[in-house]
Amino acid sequence: MATLAAHDPIPTHWTEGNPTDDELAHIPGEGGWPVVGNTFKMLKDPHAFTRHMVDTYGRVYKNKAFGGWNIALIGADANELVLFDRNKNFSSEQGWGPVLDQLFPRGLMLIDFDHHRADRRALSIAFKPGPMRHYSGSLNRGIAKKVEDWGEGKMQFYPAIKTLTLDLAADSFIGIEWGPEADKINTAFIDMVQASVAPVRKPLPFTQMKRGVDGRKFLVDFFTAETHRRRAEGGGQDMFSQFATAEYEDGSLMPVDEVVDHMNFLMMAAHDTITSSATSLIWLLAKHPEWQEKLRQEIESVTGGVGSDGRPRDLAYEDMGKLELTEMAFKEALRMVPPVPSTPRRALREFEYGGYRIPAGSHVGINAFFVHHEEEHWENPWEFDPNHFTPDAVKARHKYAWVPFGGGAHMCLGLHFAYMQVKILMAQLLPRYEIALEQEPDWQPWPIPKPRDGLKISLRRI
Ligand code: HEM
Repeated sequence: MATLAAHDPIPTHWTEGNPTDDELAHIPGEGGWPVVGNTFKMLKDPHAFTRHMVDTYGRVYKNKAFGGWNIALIGADANELVLFDRNKNFSSEQGWGPVLDQLFPRGLMLIDFDHHRADRRALSIAFKPGPMRHYSGSLNRGIAKKVEDWGEGKMQFYPAIKTLTLDLAADSFIGIEWGPEADKINTAFIDMVQASVAPVRKPLPFTQMKRGVDGRKFLVDFFTAETHRRRAEGGGQDMFSQFATAEYEDGSLMPVDEVVDHMNFLMMAAHDTITSSATSLIWLLAKHPEWQEKLRQEIESVTGGVGSDGRPRDLAYEDMGKLELTEMAFKEALRMVPPVPSTPRRALREFEYGGYRIPAGSHVGINAFFVHHEEEHWENPWEFDPNHFTPDAVKARHKYAWVPFGGGAHMCLGLHFAYMQVKILMAQLLPRYEIALEQEPDWQPWPIPKPRDGLKISLRRI
């Protein structure tokens, strides 16, 4: 029987200690083709694949993909078991490691337990009200300018919000102005993110992985020099400056290389997730003009509408909580198109679930998308209805039926930043324009959902 203790050294190879076929023989499921397993079948349509597996084998099943067995644990109870992880059975580091460790080592999702708790606590300083108020100022400024520039007419929303989110990150995450330096950082960063899901995992010449590794080197050098500089000279109110001077409970500073790794990881964790969720919200509002109008009215009643310069007023940090319908609509978009559709972990010790004994060393996964569409928890789960998130509806539902930000110790650290950016985007966009859908998008569902055609919409000035 494979055994791994919670504090054993990190395996040098992620397949070390995997359970054998015999040890998994009692778990229903299928291995698919030799070598590739079900990888291609899954990638073709991950959600249909999960549906098929649940219908055939039940809510605990095994599946061979990406070079090994994975045990799927499906349902709100499974989400709670794995995310809340009362018994510290599940390693996030060893779940995400095979995908992320090469480019984003030691990010918060790639460390566990005591080390994770200490670092997370130190980094939380960047999400306290003072810094958040500062980010809200730079988000309002940056978004107002870009949204005004978009102007009336047809556009592809996804690439536009991706560029805007990168530019905003340069300002509020790193504290540098938009321009050539920010562009260089953005390019290195995009290379790194694309490499993290590239099929070739070795940095061979001309591969995406090589570009990613080079991008990582550039960013590591940049953040290392800047951490020293900001410690010596003092930094600004941006997120990176907060990280650079973050302290542990005993008052000591975090080692510089750890600050750098956390910063790289954070930019990755923030970028495609915000881009994806802002895009799905715009898609759904374009399809539901009645909700677009409700949000517009809510925003105008909170911000006071158009100012003396003829432009919509900014959304003040203190007013974020007042946009209740906007928040419900965003939550509904996150339900229908969760940016992180499934979450991996590795079992550090044997556990029981759903009548099965799952051996230590198993790679396990939960599935937010599936649970977000189960009739057991949601009335008309395939319909856009922000009323799924009225306070009464939320109270009556299983706490782990909606998990776009995960839960437990690794719950998204930036979720309030995400709400803030999306609310400011709505506050700058909806009072300026009516949004119409030009073409129903074809969503690429994995790894982070995006519309293959970029989401074709048109804006009409109000
Ligand atoms: C709508 C946008 C976002 C979504 C849907 C999202 C989703 C998630 C999820 C599901 C996790 C947990 C993964 C796991 O348990 O394995 C996570 C973790 C994390 N997210 Fe987000 N995220 C978003 C935006 C952001 C932003 C804007 C930031 C930073 C400003 C951020 C920073 C992080 C960090 C640092 C972690 C790791 C936390 C830990 O391991 O303790 N995320 N996010």
